[in-house]
Amino acid sequence: MNARFEPMGPLKGRLRPPPDKSISHRAALLGAMASEPVRITDYLDAADTRSTLRAVRGLGVIVEERSGEVLIRGCGLRNAQVPDATIDVGNAGTLMRLLPGWLAFQAGTFNLDGDDSIRRRPIDRIAEPLERMGARIEAREGRFPPFTVHGAPLKGIEYELPVASAQVKSCVLVAGLVTDETTVIEAVPARDHTERMLLRAGAPLERTGVTKGGQRTVVRNADELELDSIAVPGDLSSAAFLIAAGVLIPGSRLVLENVGVNWTRAGFLRVLERMGAIVLGELEPVGTFTPEEPVADLDVTGAPIEATTVEADEVPLTIDELPLVALLGCFAEGETVVRGAAELRLKESDRIAAVVDGLRGLGADIESAPDGFAVRGTGGLRGGVLEARGDHRLALLGAVAGLASDDGVEVVGMDAAAVSYPGFAADLAALW
Ligand code: S3P
Repeated sequence: MNARFEPMGPLKGRLRPPPDKSISHRAALLGAMASEPVRITDYLDAADTRSTLRAVRGLGVIVEERSGEVLIRGCGLRNAQVPDATIDVGNAGTLMRLLPGWLAFQAGTFNLDGDDSIRRRPIDRIAEPLERMGARIEAREGRFPPFTVHGAPLKGIEYELPVASAQVKSCVLVAGLVTDETTVIEAVPARDHTERMLLRAGAPLERTGVTKGGQRTVVRNADELELDSIAVPGDLSSAAFLIAAGVLIPGSRLVLENVGVNWTRAGFLRVLERMGAIVLGELEPVGTFTPEEPVADLDVTGAPIEATTVEADEVPLTIDELPLVALLGCFAEGETVVRGAAELRLKESDRIAAVVDGLRGLGADIESAPDGFAVRGTGGLRGGVLEARGDHRLALLGAVAGLASDDGVEVVGMDAAAVSYPGFAADLAALW
């Protein structure tokens, strides 16, 4: 499906962006491992998070969906059933990389597969630590889906993450729940939703060195997980598209309510602050580590912006919003640079190539590097056609580019947005 986005004037109003995708996946997965039912309010209703509900149902978990609420009757930490069929993760990388952490210590063998995009995304990053812990993983060409997890009793490891990845960290921590002691070391912190939820679930988890220089998270044997209810905050990564539109379209004024502002996710808001954008709202102080997920109402006003540089240590805190940093860079005064972000090449698409080709096609002065890009601001963007490449964040990027452009943008493959933000067009319409 193609869709056209025209420059239509300022955005105004208030709305709640969709619930957080990362936290919804974790709520369903940890809920599936819990011994007592878990009530999730504001579970994201989108393609990725529906894949997670389908996957846990296949493992013997009962999922009851009611309006605005999902009730998960889990099967307990050690009792997942072997499904009759291959577990289909669809387009969901988070599901593909977190679930094996649980399957790795179940009695049985589990097959996983997904769509064409997922088949291009590596799983050796989780297979390597899980094999060190005692599980066995067989994957196509040793590193791609489809793949098989052979569960086994696990032993604890100390694991220094070779890439700053919350998905890998989460996978190892979940597997560590049945070991004497498992330690994950991060050179730079990545999002910590799993750790916060594990704390809330009563898991024996400790953290030292919260912000920099080798943050360590230790998890020990847990008898069971207990979570009675989880309220999922609004997704900052989805809200980011509306924030960028509000910043770029002069005269805009919008309030985005109940957005998750966990500091390990909120890098984009700090980048925006440096660019001189006006986004007000109380952010969580850097370094906080609590079981809660903080929320804020974000008040966005359109204003001129300046270029900035995003370095490697900020990349994990901003990872999914970096395409928007490129778009903002087109409108900013000066050169906007993103470095140390080679991980972008392994997302739903190669997001360095897709962003650079996509924005250049709309008139941007942008160049790629192996680990990022540089954009020279030209004060605007002509418009044209942008190919989503099956990547939800690319489709939404094209839409916002269209709203802020001179001539509008035709997004080829807009349906990809349904992976994280199916209500985007309706939300946008509500802001005019
Ligand atoms: C996610 C972590 C990030 C992010 C992805 C969601 C998560 O991936 O890009 O959209 O929910 O843990 P990596 O952990 O691979 O960096």
